[in-house]
Amino acid sequence: MPPARPTEWFENEDFWRSTYPFMFPPSRLDGTPAEVTSLLRLAKPRGKTVLDLCSGPGRFAVELARRGFRVTGVDRTRFLMNKARARARAARVDVEWVLSDMRDFLRPGAYHLALSLFTSFGYFDDKAEDLGVLRNLHASLRPGGVLVMELMSKERLARIFQPTTSQRLPGGGWLIERHAIFDDWTRIRNEWILIRRGRSRAWTFHHTVYSGQELRTLLESAGFGDVSLYGSLQGGAYGTEAARLVAVARKAR
Ligand SMILES: C[S@@+](CC[C@H](N)C(=O)[O-])C[C@H]1O[C@@H](n2cnc3c(N)ncnc32)[C@H](O)[C@@H]1O
Repeated sequence: MPPARPTEWFENEDFWRSTYPFMFPPSRLDGTPAEVTSLLRLAKPRGKTVLDLCSGPGRFAVELARRGFRVTGVDRTRFLMNKARARARAARVDVEWVLSDMRDFLRPGAYHLALSLFTSFGYFDDKAEDLGVLRNLHASLRPGGVLVMELMSKERLARIFQPTTSQRLPGGGWLIERHAIFDDWTRIRNEWILIRRGRSRAWTFHHTVYSGQELRTLLESAGFGDVSLYGSLQGGAYGTEAARLVAVARKAR
């Protein structure tokens, strides 16, 4: 039995269902094959088994399966896993889908490649649980296996931070985002307000934001020996222009 835990925002299925159209617009889904090509070039996995932790609608898992990888997709949101299953069926590929909290998934020595993509990390109120997730990822890799993480970083956020932003949504409506930094610049709280056809709905969620150095230190604490940081999945430098924080971390052979 998984441990009893306080309820947290990411357990709200309605959040993922309602935000799906603007979190995963067709442009993002269509861009996934190119991202997969880049991440494989960067990670150079030494075999064909992949763990996609927080696989969401399965865009990475299904594309990797299409390329001949044996993929396990793990996610705790039933709505997104159903999307992922449908995606795999449409692509006529087999993926192992596991409905599980990322804190609980552990399969020692099973994978050549592990993924945590599109800011799927740092969600827990207890920050020690982030380290637990990385320890499990390390344990689930084979010797010589590689982890690729891709997320919004503290350096990037400090550079672009605005308390309020808005975007017009395809198909009509507005998404207003309100942002606040708290906990001594370690976390961000977001309020997303969706206004459509004269009605509004709002969701709040928060997560820890890591700097490149903080993520490197956490990965090393989890047992990873060889950690490289990049500013994109294409392997750009992690410098002032970096749009994302990408960590490629290897488990010793
Ligand atoms: C921003 S989405 C990214 C999904 C996917 N990596 C992608 O790029 O398409 C974050 C994902 O994390 C999942 N998630 C959130 N908290 C989780 C948890 N505690 N355990 C497992 N999955 C979780 C959500 O269901 C969602 O699919």
